[in-house]
Amino acid sequence: MSILRIKDLHVAVKDKEILKGLTLDIDTTKTLALLGPNGNGKSTLLQTIMGNPNYTITKGQILFDDKDITSLEADERSKLGIFLGMQYPSEVPGVNNVDFLKASLNSHREKPISLFEFYKVLNKAYDKVRIPFEMSNRNLNEGFSGGEKKKNEILQMLIIDPKLVLLDEIDSGLDVDAIQTVAQVIKEEQSKRGFLIVSHYARLYDLINVDRVIILVNGKIAVDGDKSLIQKIDQQGYEWLKQEGVEFSDERQMNAVSLGTCATKEALKGAK
Ligand SMILES: Nc1ncnc2c1ncn2[C@@H]1O[C@H](COP(=O)(O)OP(=O)(O)OP(=O)(O)O)[C@@H](O)[C@H]1O
Ligand SMILES: [Mg+2]
Repeated sequence: MSILRIKDLHVAVKDKEILKGLTLDIDTTKTLALLGPNGNGKSTLLQTIMGNPNYTITKGQILFDDKDITSLEADERSKLGIFLGMQYPSEVPGVNNVDFLKASLNSHREKPISLFEFYKVLNKAYDKVRIPFEMSNRNLNEGFSGGEKKKNEILQMLIIDPKLVLLDEIDSGLDVDAIQTVAQVIKEEQSKRGFLIVSHYARLYDLINVDRVIILVNGKIAVDGDKSLIQKIDQQGYEWLKQEGVEFSDERQMNAVSLGTCATKEALKGAK
């Protein structure tokens, strides 16, 4: 059964079309790896599923648990069970970590959790992600190192207990031991929920179960396959896709042209 169904999704940011007709289903407890060259729409897809208002859906539909969520606000989507671990988690000065986690958890429950139960959940989560419990009293992400911010996203996931987890480059900024810790947590959670995981590297994917791999190029799914695709990309990059007829974005070509133009300008300047 599908937890998420995306149909012919077109998304624009500031009038620029980024996603150009994307169709995707995610099964309830399956893990999808999402790869693709920089700037081709991976984060845009995750932010759009989460309901970030900066990303405008110009066409298409998103269904979650068979309910049309295309026009729902982010907090409503969160209550339904979607969670996004962000590529660049924001610092929120003045908001205490514990207060934030308690409010997040309570917004997903009918009755507020008792303090005793909450601290049990909190302790277990801190233990699992190996963040010192003293950090719970600091403000949300304020002054956190890159790796601590990423671990804090996983901590939130454990506390909120969502049905679908979107992780955007959760491994970036993590040291080798921290990647092991985060992968272990993900692995323990994989049979309970769906995952859509963006990473550029095989290291994280090697440590978890991956049911399916999709490659996003130029706002569309260019390839849909199995885990062997990850090794291929790790070793060969993305250039081979061109031979398979995959069209890269105009921007890549434009970059190539503009670089050429600059080089010509430089050469002309030198000749004067
Ligand atoms: N808020 C924004 N304002 C302007 N352009 C944006 C914004 N968000 C995304 N874009 C543009 O949309 C395109 C896709 O960006 P996106 O962040 O989805 O790429 P990505 O595949 O996640 O890349 P990366 O691998 O580098 O994280 C890029 O050209 C980016 O500059
Ligand atoms: Mg991104």
